[in-house]
Amino acid sequence: MNNFIVAVDGPAGSGKSTISKLVAEKYKLTYLDTGAMYRMVAFYSLEKGVNLDNPREVELMLENIKIDIEGDKFILNGVDVSNEIRTLRVTSIVSKTASIKAVREKLVELQREISNGKRVILDGRDIGTVVFPNAHLKVFLVASPEERAKRRLKEYEEKGIKSDYESVLDSIKERDRLDSTREESPLKKADDAIEVDTSFLSIEEVSDKISALIRERI
Ligand code: DC
Repeated sequence: MNNFIVAVDGPAGSGKSTISKLVAEKYKLTYLDTGAMYRMVAFYSLEKGVNLDNPREVELMLENIKIDIEGDKFILNGVDVSNEIRTLRVTSIVSKTASIKAVREKLVELQREISNGKRVILDGRDIGTVVFPNAHLKVFLVASPEERAKRRLKEYEEKGIKSDYESVLDSIKERDRLDSTREESPLKKADDAIEVDTSFLSIEEVSDKISALIRERI
């Protein structure tokens, strides 16, 4: 079947990328991490000192950015920035970058272009509501902020990034607030999305649930 789209949305740390990668592998779907695309724009703006409150500067920035995705590598204007986009420095400003209409328009267009004619699983905040309102399957993952903070802290520890539970929890709550209250495509469950609370489920259990939903539709 051509152009099979699975949309996975939800807040930071709800398990979207872990689950999407697993499911992509299982069903040979292309995986598109749309959060990484917003992170690339945020990284560029930091590197170049772009004033995000100045629409002209934002417009110029978007003209000068070339995003390529090769497997799990994120290439910004020819340079692999896969590690740089995961730093706390980028995480702390990415919600602001993602709230800008012009940024969203450019990235949504790119997401649709990359997915064209393919079998794709995309994770993000607005995939089921804006990017692909007609997706074949829409999943909305949720988990308590405390559980999500625990997961993020574990990831940071594994990567050797210094942090502590309280600041990770604060940052998660702040990003939830910014992502859900912004005017442009706020984080919101699509009416026809299937909500899965991952707080008390293992990765395998969530993956099995989503796999069953895919099998019903494929
Ligand atoms: O999933 P993530 O933490 O890498 O996402 C980074 C930021 O990008 C997040 O704060 C919200 C934003 N984002 C978005 O607005 N829309 C998407 N489709 C994906 C991410």
